[in-house]
Amino acid sequence: NITACIFDLDGVLVDTAGYHYQAWRLMANDLGFDFTELQNEKLKGVSRIDSLKLILGWGNVTKNEEEMLVLAQKKNDDYLKMIEQMTPENLLPGAFDLLKYLKANGYKVALGSASKNAKLILDKTGVLPLFDAIVDGNIVTSSKPDPQVFLKAAELLNEQPENCVVFEDAEAGVEAALRGKMHVIGVGDKNILADADVVVRSLDEIELG
Ligand code: G6P
Ligand code: MG
Repeated sequence: NITACIFDLDGVLVDTAGYHYQAWRLMANDLGFDFTELQNEKLKGVSRIDSLKLILGWGNVTKNEEEMLVLAQKKNDDYLKMIEQMTPENLLPGAFDLLKYLKANGYKVALGSASKNAKLILDKTGVLPLFDAIVDGNIVTSSKPDPQVFLKAAELLNEQPENCVVFEDAEAGVEAALRGKMHVIGVGDKNILADADVVVRSLDEIELG
């Protein structure tokens, strides 16, 4: 019996996944290479620094720790510029109604995201007050598919993992939820999220009430 819902942020509640991709591509192009949308799937749910390492590997580019920090900072500056104008309009279809429905019906709601920008984005899109707990990239030390981010969220909500359902758009996120012994609803492509218990194209497909 489900008593709590844990949401990924990028690509589930907000349409920021494309901005992450754009900002990383800018960096890759500056370094003289490019990467595909299929490769980009591997970055979803993965922390900023781990994403950077994967991308540099694809381009066969070697950088030291200090250079990597500069690149990660530049990517984030570009990304922040892209999301600067974000408003509640940027919530994905069905996100707001689902969050409101869950609150109104006594479910606990948490965020489980690898992003260090999560609170900023929840604030800009007006849904920050709807969350009982927020676990973001400033708290977690192990990237998805490690279940840490979701287990921490369950702990903060005071819920057992088996009573939680995770909403995820990333392969790594689906795996993290399963490793944490939680239920998982995939949001996106059925083929990519094949391991999820259920897959919807978008949150507005979920019937409320
Ligand atoms: C999410 C996104 C990733 C992103 C990560 C870190 O998991 O799916 O694409 O790299 O958060 O985000 P940040 O905003 O901290 O760079
Ligand atoms: Mg995501």
